[in-house]
Amino acid sequence: MDSTIQDTPINKKHFGEDFTWGVSTAAVQIEGAHDADGKGESIWDVFTAKKGKILNGHHHRTATDFYNRYQDDIDLIKQLNIPNFRFSISWARILPDGTGAVNQAGIDYYNRIIDYCLQQGIQPWLTLYHWDLPHALELQGGWTNRAVVDWFTEYVKICANAFGDRVKHWMVMNEPAVFTGAGYFFGIHAPGKTGIKNFMPAIHHAVLSITAGARVLRGALPDAEIGTTFSCSYIEPYSDNPKDVAAAVRVDALLNRLFIEPILGLGYPAELAVLKGMEKYILPGDEDNLKFEFDFIGIQNYTREIVKYSFFTPYIHASLVKAQKRKVPVTTMGWEVYPASIYHMLKKYDKYPQIKKIYLTESGAAFPDEIINGEVNDPKRVEYLQNYLQQVLKAKNEGCKVSGYFIWTLTDNFEWAEGYKPRFGIIYVDFETQQRTIKASGLWYANLLR
Ligand code: GAL
Repeated sequence: MDSTIQDTPINKKHFGEDFTWGVSTAAVQIEGAHDADGKGESIWDVFTAKKGKILNGHHHRTATDFYNRYQDDIDLIKQLNIPNFRFSISWARILPDGTGAVNQAGIDYYNRIIDYCLQQGIQPWLTLYHWDLPHALELQGGWTNRAVVDWFTEYVKICANAFGDRVKHWMVMNEPAVFTGAGYFFGIHAPGKTGIKNFMPAIHHAVLSITAGARVLRGALPDAEIGTTFSCSYIEPYSDNPKDVAAAVRVDALLNRLFIEPILGLGYPAELAVLKGMEKYILPGDEDNLKFEFDFIGIQNYTREIVKYSFFTPYIHASLVKAQKRKVPVTTMGWEVYPASIYHMLKKYDKYPQIKKIYLTESGAAFPDEIINGEVNDPKRVEYLQNYLQQVLKAKNEGCKVSGYFIWTLTDNFEWAEGYKPRFGIIYVDFETQQRTIKASGLWYANLLR
């Protein structure tokens, strides 16, 4: 396949032979088949069915139909020379009620994907939880109920047992800050709960579950590479006014340190006064259980945020100065295009001696792509990826322990509350016909990885 972009300034060789290249996806965003073959309801099935929750009333019930088209999509991954494929398991396909009876058809489905990847020479990277809690468990409080740690442990054991003979790379959870913050504080993601009373227990139970799940994997699969992923944004104060500077420190603690530090054995960040409300959820012995020595940390970075002191914002007394207001280049999500962000985040996490290895498990951008004469030319995405990778290389050359890069994402897909409007894929999807068209960015990636 010939790339339309010939002179890529970055070269795979500069990253070294051992650098891991991949592409990332998540079950809810691509699978569709929301009730096929015994799958139970997830919180996203229930949330998307409610009025006004998702832009334009979109839902994920068909999504990109990956459930039925996985072979074609894995063929495309192969065609693009991408050696590693990250995808997530839907808990409710494996355990329709969240606990108890196992749905063999769900296990068979993921086995087919894993086997097909391996036949094509593609390594599967599994995420065990990418935000789709079984609804049956949400009815019992979901992440606010401490029993979720046991429910999650049971589910992880089943997955380790079913897939561990072939899957060597595992991520316990995807971005706990986002699913607890958006799902249990702001209510803009499933399950749509709000307020500090839901957020506090959800945070603590998510951390306990991440490390409990990791211990299960370590025990069952001593040779597997075990990690978990975190969202992060580079934070800068709006001005050098000490109030703005202090506000930026608080937002940094909330977005970039809240989940990772307890897992590294450092406890919850002291800067977050709001966390005082969490004490009642922390039981004797928890402190030790919050820690786990991961083989790697996955970080996912898209942008930076500029932070201002705000008297009126409860708890955190800080607000974000929107990119549109700052008149900087943005993506369809309204996120600033700021390549140095990824460099700063790598440098930040590199400083923790407890972190052994970092993979960028997601990086990418949404732009309003269009098919013209059967082609999708997306120069902004190519530029974005090149510039972000340039910054990754800079950090790597300075000795940073970064070992891989996964593009978000393979195909355009269901972007949560934003529905199908933001197109993040390196492959275009016509959602009427499900036809795939490799974008110029896909050709660029194929060329880079050749
Ligand atoms: C991440 C998330 C992905 C994807 C991406 C782009 O936070 O893990 O599922 O939606 O952002 O918004």
